[in-house]
Amino acid sequence: MLKRSNRIWPIVMVIGLTLYIAGCKGKTEEPSGDQIQIGEFESLTGTTATFGSATHNGIQLAIDQANSNGGIHGKKLVLTVLDDQSKPDQAQNVVSRLINENKVVAILGEVASTRSMAAAPVCQENKVPQITPSSTNPEVTRKGDFIFRVCFTDDFQAAVDAHFAKDQGYKRAAVFKDVKNDYSMAFAKVFTEQFTKLGGQVVANQTYQEGDSDFKAQLNDLKGSNPDVILVPGYYSEVGTIAREAREVGLNVPLLGGDGWDSPILVKGAGGPGGALEGSFFSDHYFSTELTETNVRTFIQAFHAKYNANPDALAALGYDAANLLVDSIKRAKTATGPDIRDAIAQTRDFPGVAGTITIDANRNARKAAVILQIKGNIFHVYKTYTPEQVGQ
Ligand code: PHE
Repeated sequence: MLKRSNRIWPIVMVIGLTLYIAGCKGKTEEPSGDQIQIGEFESLTGTTATFGSATHNGIQLAIDQANSNGGIHGKKLVLTVLDDQSKPDQAQNVVSRLINENKVVAILGEVASTRSMAAAPVCQENKVPQITPSSTNPEVTRKGDFIFRVCFTDDFQAAVDAHFAKDQGYKRAAVFKDVKNDYSMAFAKVFTEQFTKLGGQVVANQTYQEGDSDFKAQLNDLKGSNPDVILVPGYYSEVGTIAREAREVGLNVPLLGGDGWDSPILVKGAGGPGGALEGSFFSDHYFSTELTETNVRTFIQAFHAKYNANPDALAALGYDAANLLVDSIKRAKTATGPDIRDAIAQTRDFPGVAGTITIDANRNARKAAVILQIKGNIFHVYKTYTPEQVGQ
């Protein structure tokens, strides 16, 4: 008996060691089989549900097109999208699930900066690259070297609004921001710095929180400062009501906003076409169905064929983020997190439908912005600003 078990031990140990080494390969293991798993987290429900669904439609279109063009080196892309219900803690949870259960090699999402930042440390720790299509707060990509974006930051976007306000001849601006929203806070700060530098004056500041529905006390206070324009760097979910109540308290100056206004239900929230937001302006990513570039027209046609709707900036950026990821995986040495990260970082002059994308040393993209004007139910391109035009 003794002799026999002595002979078995070395064999057991070799098997054990082999299993251990295999187990250690863990997350950076090359995907086996004929599939590449990609994860997406979005606000498919909750306060900003239109952000998530528009973005997802753009991403899904890109993945479907990549698969019908043969996938990546013969492997099919499998996209798993999980809903974070517009909540930062859920964003963190679902991203952990995508990494640990679905074994995704890269993550696309989110729209809202606060939720992208909540999930970023999870991606960074697990060495899974994250590309946000549209989170603009400068801090997002500072969370680590696996975190990227394909859009501009609010250092630029808020400067565009400040220049636009000055170019319109506004001298006195009031600022109404969402204190729980990282995007809103950074936007308001940069706008204030830039507008002041340009000779304007920020004459009043007020705050609200996502989910509020009565803004009259703050709006009355802003009215007392006699502004020429009110900056509301928030999300469509509150902006419509803010606009209606501003008019109700007799505050009739134009409102000015950022990309967070972009939603098919923005105007409805403000009382419909011709309502409280008629004529107001907001900055947005360089995308509009009014653009004539060939790649933009082809994208709009394909989007229309699949969803019977026009894409907005969110759909366009989702499409660009997914296409850039596919292109990066093709160029990566292996389809593992660290190699995909390196390939994303090396992206230069990628032809997106929302502008050409070069990933810079800080993992951001440098692009132009549009100022849109609300007329009826349509957002018309009123002006375009390049980084150079605002001194960046
Ligand atoms: N830029 C916003 C943020 O960082 C999100 C957003 C992008 C909203 C584009 C609408 C359109 O929170």
